[in-house]
Amino acid sequence: MEKQVFIETYSRERWGTDSLKWDGVKERYGKAGLLPVWVADMDFAVPESVQEALTKRVQAGIFGYSLVPADYVASYQGWQNRHFGTQFQAEWLVFSTGVVQALYDLIECFTNLGDSVLVQSPVYYPFYEGINNKKRNLVVSPLQKTAGGYQMDLANFKAQIIEKKVKLFILCSPHNPVGRVWTEEELAAVLAICQQQDVLVVSDEIHSDFIAPGKQFVSALSVAENLENLIVCNAPSKTFNMATLLNAHIWIPSEKRRATFAQWSQQQRATEYSSLGQLAAMVAYCTGDEWFAALKQVIWDNANYLEERFKEELPLAEVAELQGTYLLWVNLGNYQIADLPHFMESAGLAVDYGSWFAPESEQYIRINLATTPERIIQVADRLVEAIQKLPKAGI
Ligand SMILES: Cc1ncc(COP(=O)(O)O)c(C=O)c1O
Repeated sequence: MEKQVFIETYSRERWGTDSLKWDGVKERYGKAGLLPVWVADMDFAVPESVQEALTKRVQAGIFGYSLVPADYVASYQGWQNRHFGTQFQAEWLVFSTGVVQALYDLIECFTNLGDSVLVQSPVYYPFYEGINNKKRNLVVSPLQKTAGGYQMDLANFKAQIIEKKVKLFILCSPHNPVGRVWTEEELAAVLAICQQQDVLVVSDEIHSDFIAPGKQFVSALSVAENLENLIVCNAPSKTFNMATLLNAHIWIPSEKRRATFAQWSQQQRATEYSSLGQLAAMVAYCTGDEWFAALKQVIWDNANYLEERFKEELPLAEVAELQGTYLLWVNLGNYQIADLPHFMESAGLAVDYGSWFAPESEQYIRINLATTPERIIQVADRLVEAIQKLPKAGI
């Protein structure tokens, strides 16, 4: 599908649709009318085939208790075989209503109160919230920023694991917000440390379908030498923009850990799963390739556009290389903006602030690229104009 056809067919005006990203701006930022490029959902509708399947199901009018569709896993495996080829096995799959919920559940099931859980900062803030809310000990191993981009600090990672007796590590792969797609070597190194130290790795791979041209996604599943200490979470929700259809995957290869989780679930999470979510995902996995290819074209072109505009007009802005995800991580620190949230709001933009991801990233913003090129042009115009108006002494 041509990119322009995709945009004309699928882009939507979302004001007045109870959208968190659009209608929730006033509550979140204290000001209405900001152009929202914050929370990670997209301004594009799901593939027509999915809309049709959901319409048919809604018209049938029955939403009683349901079984997982027989072809569900095969449809996902088909998607995998056509994309990255990760070998997910049907018996590993446990459903969840979301990846964040899955992380909360896995922390609770596989660690005890006060146990140490490690993350690599800056990172998606619900990781911190999950660890803190579950009253575990948050351990942070910062990523290192080098001339070549963000790297894992393996020495610090290992030292923290040993010193704090870490029990569980939440890997973000690809990494939100820094946009890294971890290489096989990096994953092998980090998984080997966890294996040696008997740390359970929960790999959040929700962004794994968004991989920049020329980059290769490798799942932790394809690298780990021993699958006993690995759980992978992923979902159709980012890929196809269906977060509130409440359907996510927890892949638990270890039979023993599956049994532990099943037993824990029996006591702690008596939830049904989303039949609409499963239907939508299954249809999307079977028929969404063309839609997804066009979507990715929009995203990478938006990224390139912003990178070019910033290079020419905001030369002091540092844009992290977008290897994966649809979230651009931009350091405005060289402009020495005293109060970044106030500044962004005066510029008319609702972005994710770096401080949400790590205190030391307070001069960063995260821009959601999954919108139309017109809106991305407006983002650039507003940011460039606001920065160019800064008093020169501040620069
Ligand atoms: C790394 C990561 N994990 C999980 C989520 C959210 O997943 P869910 O909506 O399934 O809870 C996001 C959303 O942005 C994310 O970036």
